[in-house]
Amino acid sequence: MENVLQMITTTTTIIHKELMKMMKMIYHEFLAQEYRIGILDEIPKNSIGIEIGIYQGNWSKKIIETSNPKEFWLIDNWFCQSRAMLEFLKKRKYFLENNCVLKEGNFEILYEMGEIPNQYFDWIYLDAEHSYEKTSIFLPMCFNMLKQGGVLIGDDYSNTFKGLTKAVDEFIIENRHTIHVHYLNKNVPYNNYQYKIRKL
Ligand SMILES: C[S@@+](CC[C@H](N)C(=O)[O-])C[C@H]1O[C@@H](n2cnc3c(N)ncnc32)[C@H](O)[C@@H]1O
Repeated sequence: MENVLQMITTTTTIIHKELMKMMKMIYHEFLAQEYRIGILDEIPKNSIGIEIGIYQGNWSKKIIETSNPKEFWLIDNWFCQSRAMLEFLKKRKYFLENNCVLKEGNFEILYEMGEIPNQYFDWIYLDAEHSYEKTSIFLPMCFNMLKQGGVLIGDDYSNTFKGLTKAVDEFIIENRHTIHVHYLNKNVPYNNYQYKIRKL
């Protein structure tokens, strides 16, 4: 009897833990989508854009629904993320039917290989690796890829991602004569905050 009770307790604890994990994931995904919903209005309509770092493609789908891109490039390396890739592949048909160009690989390598054109995009949504080193490499590439007047919008500019935020701040100072900063917002409780910079 004691063993049975012990088994029930252990099983209940495991189920409870797993449920909590699932709830946390759903909550995180919900916040990740909801807190930046306003930024979707700032993506130019019917234009050429690219999202760098797409994960499962949920945000990409929202971009398509709100801004109806003339051409939309999607890039991700999906390293160690078979589930994210699977979820994305399930939506592959949807993306291909909506003027999308899909590229799998490291953004910086694809760029260096000449797979991504310069001065071509009206907007870029940058949301790949958030380290200082990588962000410092990504930002100049993104600026070369933008047309004059094009906008770069990026995710997670916040005190949570100090490396990314430092790289963005440095880039803005170094390029202050050729860019216009629309806004930066890092002093917010949740970590999904956005920066927006225009290429002059
Ligand atoms: C934060 S998630 C992107 C989330 C997505 N933009 C959204 O809003 O739902 C970051 C993604 O960037 C991808 N990534 C990280 N570094 C990358 C790189 N160097 N090149 C391409 N993709 C990269 C990861 O595989 C991951 O799927």
